[in-house]
Amino acid sequence: MEPTPSAKAPAAPEVAAVIVSRRRIQRRLDELAGEIAAAYAGCELTVVAVLDGALIFLADLVRRLEMDLRIITLSVRSYSGNGPRPGGPVISGVLPRLEGRHVLVVDDVLDTGSTLSAVLEQVRLCNPASCRCCVLLRKHRRGGGPACAPKVDFAGFEIEDRFVVGYGLDFDGKYRNLSDIVVLKRHWE
Ligand code: IMP
Ligand code: MG
Repeated sequence: MEPTPSAKAPAAPEVAAVIVSRRRIQRRLDELAGEIAAAYAGCELTVVAVLDGALIFLADLVRRLEMDLRIITLSVRSYSGNGPRPGGPVISGVLPRLEGRHVLVVDDVLDTGSTLSAVLEQVRLCNPASCRCCVLLRKHRRGGGPACAPKVDFAGFEIEDRFVVGYGLDFDGKYRNLSDIVVLKRHWE
Protein backbone atom coordinates (compact mmCIF):
# COMPACT_ATOMS: atom_id res chain seq x y z
CA MET A 1 0.00 0.00 0.00
CA GLU A 2 1.27 3.50 -0.91
CA PRO A 3 2.09 5.71 2.13
CA THR A 4 -0.41 8.58 2.64
CA PRO A 5 1.39 11.89 2.04
CA SER A 6 1.20 14.34 4.94
CA ALA A 7 -0.78 17.55 4.24
CA LYS A 8 2.20 19.43 5.60
CA ALA A 9 4.87 17.86 3.42
CA PRO A 10 4.56 19.83 0.13
CA ALA A 11 4.67 23.26 1.78
CA ALA A 12 7.04 22.54 4.65
CA PRO A 13 10.10 24.16 3.01
CA GLU A 14 8.13 27.41 2.65
CA VAL A 15 6.93 27.48 6.27
CA ALA A 16 8.80 29.72 8.71
CA ALA A 17 6.80 28.94 11.84
CA VAL A 18 3.72 27.11 13.08
CA ILE A 19 1.53 29.66 14.87
CA VAL A 20 -1.32 27.33 15.91
CA SER A 21 -0.81 23.60 15.62
CA ARG A 22 -3.49 21.23 14.33
CA ARG A 23 -3.78 19.69 17.81
CA ARG A 24 -4.43 23.04 19.45
CA ILE A 25 -6.99 23.92 16.76
CA GLN A 26 -8.92 20.70 17.26
CA ARG A 27 -8.85 21.00 21.05
CA ARG A 28 -10.04 24.61 20.97
CA LEU A 29 -12.83 23.71 18.54
CA ASP A 30 -14.22 21.29 21.11
CA GLU A 31 -14.37 24.14 23.65
CA LEU A 32 -15.75 26.64 21.14
CA ALA A 33 -18.51 24.25 20.07
CA GLY A 34 -19.38 23.80 23.76
CA GLU A 35 -19.64 27.57 24.26
CA ILE A 36 -21.82 27.96 21.15
CA ALA A 37 -24.08 25.02 22.01
CA ALA A 38 -24.61 26.46 25.52
CA ALA A 39 -25.40 29.94 24.15
CA TYR A 40 -28.01 28.55 21.74
CA ALA A 41 -29.50 25.83 23.94
CA GLY A 42 -33.07 25.14 22.79
CA CYS A 43 -32.72 27.39 19.72
CA GLU A 44 -32.48 26.60 16.05
CA LEU A 45 -29.33 28.17 14.64
CA THR A 46 -28.54 29.65 11.23
CA VAL A 47 -24.83 29.74 10.51
CA VAL A 48 -23.76 32.30 7.90
CA ALA A 49 -20.25 31.35 6.82
CA VAL A 50 -17.85 33.75 5.16
CA LEU A 51 -16.09 31.85 2.37
CA ASP A 52 -13.57 31.00 1.18
CA GLY A 53 -11.46 31.43 4.31
CA ALA A 54 -13.93 29.90 6.79
CA LEU A 55 -14.42 26.72 4.74
CA ILE A 56 -12.37 24.31 6.85
CA PHE A 57 -13.22 25.98 10.17
CA LEU A 58 -16.94 25.80 9.31
CA ALA A 59 -16.76 22.12 8.41
CA ASP A 60 -14.98 21.18 11.63
CA LEU A 61 -17.11 23.44 13.85
CA VAL A 62 -20.60 22.48 12.64
CA ARG A 63 -19.85 18.78 12.96
CA ARG A 64 -19.31 19.38 16.66
CA LEU A 65 -22.68 21.14 17.05
CA GLU A 66 -25.33 18.55 17.75
CA MET A 67 -28.33 20.80 17.31
CA ASP A 68 -30.73 21.93 14.59
CA LEU A 69 -28.87 24.26 12.28
CA ARG A 70 -28.86 25.59 8.77
CA ILE A 71 -25.76 26.66 6.87
CA ILE A 72 -25.72 29.61 4.49
CA THR A 73 -22.53 30.62 2.70
CA LEU A 74 -21.49 34.01 1.43
CA SER A 75 -18.48 34.57 -0.74
CA VAL A 76 -16.44 37.55 0.37
CA ARG A 77 -13.21 38.75 -1.18
CA SER A 78 -11.33 40.89 1.27
CA TYR A 79 -7.98 41.40 -0.35
CA SER A 80 -7.96 42.95 -3.79
CA GLY A 81 -4.56 41.56 -4.75
CA ASN A 82 -2.95 38.25 -3.97
CA GLY A 83 -0.83 39.31 -1.02
CA PRO A 84 -1.25 40.66 2.49
CA ARG A 85 -2.56 44.07 1.36
CA PRO A 86 -6.10 44.85 2.51
CA GLY A 87 -8.73 46.04 0.02
CA GLY A 88 -12.46 46.68 0.54
CA PRO A 89 -14.67 43.63 1.12
CA VAL A 90 -16.82 42.54 -1.84
CA ILE A 91 -19.74 40.29 -0.86
CA SER A 92 -21.29 38.00 -3.44
CA GLY A 93 -24.32 35.88 -2.71
CA VAL A 94 -27.80 36.74 -1.53
CA LEU A 95 -28.99 36.09 1.99
CA PRO A 96 -32.26 34.16 2.28
CA ARG A 97 -34.98 35.24 4.75
CA LEU A 98 -33.36 35.53 8.17
CA GLU A 99 -36.22 37.27 9.92
CA GLY A 100 -36.76 35.80 13.39
CA ARG A 101 -33.77 33.46 13.10
CA HIS A 102 -30.81 33.19 15.43
CA VAL A 103 -27.81 33.91 13.20
CA LEU A 104 -24.18 33.13 13.89
CA VAL A 105 -21.73 34.61 11.39
CA VAL A 106 -18.59 32.45 11.12
CA ASP A 107 -15.35 33.82 9.67
CA ASP A 108 -11.73 32.71 9.65
CA VAL A 109 -9.93 35.79 10.96
CA LEU A 110 -10.68 39.25 12.24
CA ASP A 111 -7.98 41.61 11.04
CA THR A 112 -9.24 45.18 10.46
CA GLY A 113 -12.83 43.99 11.03
CA SER A 114 -14.14 45.49 7.80
CA THR A 115 -15.19 42.12 6.32
CA LEU A 116 -17.13 41.07 9.38
CA SER A 117 -18.70 44.54 9.75
CA ALA A 118 -19.95 44.41 6.16
CA VAL A 119 -21.44 40.92 6.61
CA LEU A 120 -23.01 41.76 9.98
CA GLU A 121 -24.60 44.86 8.45
CA GLN A 122 -26.20 42.75 5.70
CA VAL A 123 -27.45 40.18 8.22
CA ARG A 124 -28.91 42.82 10.57
CA LEU A 125 -30.85 44.38 7.68
CA CYS A 126 -32.75 41.06 7.52
CA ASN A 127 -34.18 41.47 11.06
CA PRO A 128 -32.87 38.27 12.66
CA ALA A 129 -33.96 37.37 16.20
CA SER A 130 -30.29 37.61 17.17
CA CYS A 131 -26.98 38.08 15.38
CA ARG A 132 -23.62 37.07 16.82
CA CYS A 133 -20.26 36.26 15.32
CA CYS A 134 -17.52 33.70 15.72
CA VAL A 135 -13.98 33.91 14.35
CA LEU A 136 -11.23 31.33 14.52
CA LEU A 137 -8.47 33.95 14.81
CA ARG A 138 -8.41 37.48 16.13
CA LYS A 139 -5.31 39.47 15.26
CA HIS A 140 -3.77 41.56 17.94
CA ARG A 141 -3.24 44.73 15.94
CA ARG A 142 -0.55 47.14 17.05
CA GLY A 143 -2.23 50.27 18.41
CA GLY A 144 -5.39 48.36 19.35
CA GLY A 145 -7.04 48.15 15.90
CA PRO A 146 -9.73 50.31 14.35
CA ALA A 147 -12.57 51.57 16.55
CA CYS A 148 -15.10 50.28 13.98
CA ALA A 149 -14.03 46.62 14.50
CA PRO A 150 -17.09 44.60 15.49
CA LYS A 151 -17.42 42.92 18.86
CA VAL A 152 -16.65 39.22 18.54
CA ASP A 153 -18.85 36.86 20.56
CA PHE A 154 -16.80 33.67 20.11
CA ALA A 155 -13.09 33.61 19.23
CA GLY A 156 -10.73 30.66 18.84
CA PHE A 157 -7.29 32.23 19.24
CA GLU A 158 -5.68 35.64 19.64
CA ILE A 159 -2.64 35.86 17.37
CA GLU A 160 0.05 38.42 16.60
CA ASP A 161 -0.47 40.80 13.71
CA ARG A 162 1.15 38.60 11.05
CA PHE A 163 -0.04 37.20 7.73
CA VAL A 164 -0.89 33.55 8.32
CA VAL A 165 -1.98 30.70 6.07
CA GLY A 166 -3.34 27.19 6.50
CA TYR A 167 -6.54 25.68 7.88
CA GLY A 168 -8.54 27.51 5.19
CA LEU A 169 -6.49 30.70 5.03
CA ASP A 170 -4.67 31.32 1.78
CA PHE A 171 -1.93 33.24 0.08
CA ASP A 172 -2.57 33.60 -3.64
CA GLY A 173 -5.17 30.81 -3.38
CA LYS A 174 -2.67 28.32 -1.93
CA TYR A 175 -1.98 26.71 1.46
CA ARG A 176 -5.65 26.39 2.54
CA ASN A 177 -5.11 22.63 2.86
CA LEU A 178 -2.44 22.85 5.56
CA SER A 179 -3.69 21.45 8.84
CA ASP A 180 -1.69 23.91 10.96
CA ILE A 181 -1.85 27.71 10.91
CA VAL A 182 1.57 28.92 9.83
CA VAL A 183 3.59 31.91 8.67
CA LEU A 184 5.39 31.54 5.36
CA LYS A 185 9.05 32.46 5.07
CA ARG A 186 8.15 35.24 2.61
CA HIS A 187 6.02 36.94 5.34
CA TRP A 188 8.48 36.40 8.18
CA GLU A 189 10.81 39.38 8.66
P1 IMP B 1 -10.53 42.21 7.76
O1 IMP B 1 -11.67 42.64 6.87
O2 IMP B 1 -9.36 43.12 7.65
O3 IMP B 1 -10.90 41.91 9.17
O4 IMP B 1 -9.96 40.89 7.12
C1 IMP B 1 -10.60 39.75 7.28
C2 IMP B 1 -10.46 38.88 6.05
O5 IMP B 1 -9.21 39.04 5.36
C3 IMP B 1 -10.51 37.48 6.54
O6 IMP B 1 -11.83 36.99 6.44
C4 IMP B 1 -9.53 36.75 5.65
O7 IMP B 1 -10.21 36.20 4.57
C5 IMP B 1 -8.56 37.81 5.18
N1 IMP B 1 -7.34 37.81 5.99
C6 IMP B 1 -7.03 38.64 7.01
N2 IMP B 1 -5.84 38.33 7.55
C7 IMP B 1 -5.39 37.26 6.86
C8 IMP B 1 -4.21 36.45 6.97
O8 IMP B 1 -3.33 36.64 7.82
N3 IMP B 1 -4.11 35.43 6.08
C9 IMP B 1 -5.04 35.17 5.13
N4 IMP B 1 -6.17 35.88 5.01
C10 IMP B 1 -6.34 36.93 5.86
MG1 MG C 1 -12.35 35.59 5.31
